[in-house]
Amino acid sequence: MKNNLLLRAIKGEKIERFPVWLMRQAGRYMKEYRDIRQRERDFVSFCKNVDSAVRVSLLPLELLEVDAIIIFSDILVPLEVLGVGIEFAENEGPKLHWSGKVSDLKKYNPSENSYVYEIIKKLKQFQQEVPVIGFAGAPFTLLSYLVEGKSSTDFRRTKVFMWEREYDFSRLMEILTLTIGDYLSAQIEAGADVVQIFDSWTLHLSRADYEESVLPYVEELLSRIKTKFDTPVIYFFRGSSSFVDLLRKTKADVLSVDWSVDLSLEMLKTDKAFQGNLDPSVLYASEETIKLKTLQLLRSIPRKSGYVFNLGHGLAPDMDFKKVKLLVDTVKGYRL
Ligand code: CP3
Repeated sequence: MKNNLLLRAIKGEKIERFPVWLMRQAGRYMKEYRDIRQRERDFVSFCKNVDSAVRVSLLPLELLEVDAIIIFSDILVPLEVLGVGIEFAENEGPKLHWSGKVSDLKKYNPSENSYVYEIIKKLKQFQQEVPVIGFAGAPFTLLSYLVEGKSSTDFRRTKVFMWEREYDFSRLMEILTLTIGDYLSAQIEAGADVVQIFDSWTLHLSRADYEESVLPYVEELLSRIKTKFDTPVIYFFRGSSSFVDLLRKTKADVLSVDWSVDLSLEMLKTDKAFQGNLDPSVLYASEETIKLKTLQLLRSIPRKSGYVFNLGHGLAPDMDFKKVKLLVDTVKGYRL
């Protein structure tokens, strides 16, 4: 691999600059993505088209020159293997079709997601430039899609389910933990250099609920991966400042945090690596503000390693490609 900056930064080794990649780096803000995407009507078929997914995964390397590629897929695809119908209606986000009965879920068979492993194998075969990141949704974030049946703003159904149907909640969290453990293991076996677990919806939980009902499954999932592989694992969680101290003790190699965390203080408390932190809304500001806010963050990082630049959440479809490129160039121009 020509550029292993990401792997060195995660291990805490000496680096000449901070590595950069962006969550949702391949997406609708890119004209080239929209052109390829347009050829396939539904999003799930698009994820299953290995050649298109490989081409799209490579776009950020070609156009932004980022230091890692993340495979093009979606956190919801393993749910289909459990027997849940997934639908992406245009501009409405995902819709999931599950009866609500845990016993209706099928046993997860990782080989039914073989197209994902094919994408990883081809990405490793076609380029030896940068590391390939595999990913999955975390148990709680996937559970919230199952219970809500769609995107939500307050997750009230998920919370009531967690509080009142404790038995079903824990059975479902167990099933999802085993599923994601097998799914990520298969991605690592296919060649993923790093894997990221997306816990996008922890943001809405109280600390007590997170600690009692979510964290044990995150720890179980991390153990399942870490007992088998040395591959670095990144855990992305929102509402980060509420839970970050709990996560210092886990087996995650990298904590990917949102902008609620003050990294200048947080990174002094542990030798774990960190990722992220810049508020994605910065990309709606002027070029001057983008440079200023990015450099302010980079200058505040208290260690010369153990940090990976990223946003605190993903890029949005209405962001300006030129500004995204400016952001990447600003990070790459900051020498340590
Ligand atoms: O980061 C990358 O470039 C890799 C690809 C990727 C996608 N989804 C592609 C996608 C990744 C890593 C994801 C993860 C994902 N998917 C998350 C976790 C990250 C986060 O943002 O918190 C979540 C919560 C989902 C669920 C999901 N998938 C939603 C809510 C939507 C619809 C949103 C919308 O804007 O329509 C998707 C669809 C989706 N996944 C798209 C892309 C590029 C857009 C669909 C399209 O192009 O038609």
